[in-house]
Amino acid sequence: MSGKPVFQRILLKLSGEALMGPLAFGISPDVMGFLAHEIKGVVESGVQVALVVGGGNIFRGEGLAHAGMDRVTGDHMGMLATVINALALQDAIERVGVPVRVQSALRINEVCEDYIRRKAVRHLEKGRVVIFSAGTGNPFFTTDSAAALRAIEINADLMLKATKVDGIYTADPKKHADARKYEQLTYDEALSRRLGVMDQTAMVLCRDHGVHLCVYDMERPKALQAIVCGDATIGTHVR
Ligand code: GTP
Repeated sequence: MSGKPVFQRILLKLSGEALMGPLAFGISPDVMGFLAHEIKGVVESGVQVALVVGGGNIFRGEGLAHAGMDRVTGDHMGMLATVINALALQDAIERVGVPVRVQSALRINEVCEDYIRRKAVRHLEKGRVVIFSAGTGNPFFTTDSAAALRAIEINADLMLKATKVDGIYTADPKKHADARKYEQLTYDEALSRRLGVMDQTAMVLCRDHGVHLCVYDMERPKALQAIVCGDATIGTHVR
């Protein structure tokens, strides 16, 4: 496999939980450092990198919603949690020497830029990593939907979903020893088999706009680099 990227602009979706590493809550400095180096490698090979990050390591609305909290309030709290994660990622990536701009779907100007699509694209063209925070800025949408939306808006030629398993399986590989990994899937297959890759809104958005998605194991060193260089044996590709 040559070291030349076959994708020019990618959008990487990181879940909030992914940033916790072994911790029970919050942000693991080791995970941040690891991710920063993985991203730096890809940026230095000439790929434009945008990120969308979740917030579940800091706040999850579901528990409180079950206890009666207003759903919209919970979703607003979750959006703010993604801004915290975006700032932490910005710091970690800039510390390894890669310029970063954070944009937010909610106006919070003292902290970061507003989401402006054309400005985001310009940042990417200048070799800056752009982190899209605050989800879509609307309640009732997940950060997977935000990732799908931003990937479409910035014309990313690959969207990656970083997980703790190396792709999509016929069943949960941690519970079923005979689970098989799919190398490729269509969105219709993933939807009809209810494979739980992302929520249905995100999947349908990706399907209808022809987004090429790769689900991969974020803990595997150099996996991101290999995928952007066209190694189709890593992760599961959905188109
Ligand atoms: P160019 O237009 O290419 O020069 O991009 P730039 O991002 O370097 O220039 P700009 O002057 O827009 O931003 C300079 C710094 O201010 C960057 O770190 C931006 O992230 C930050 N910045 C820009 N707009 C805002 C904002 O609305 N709020 C906050 N908090 N920071 C901002």
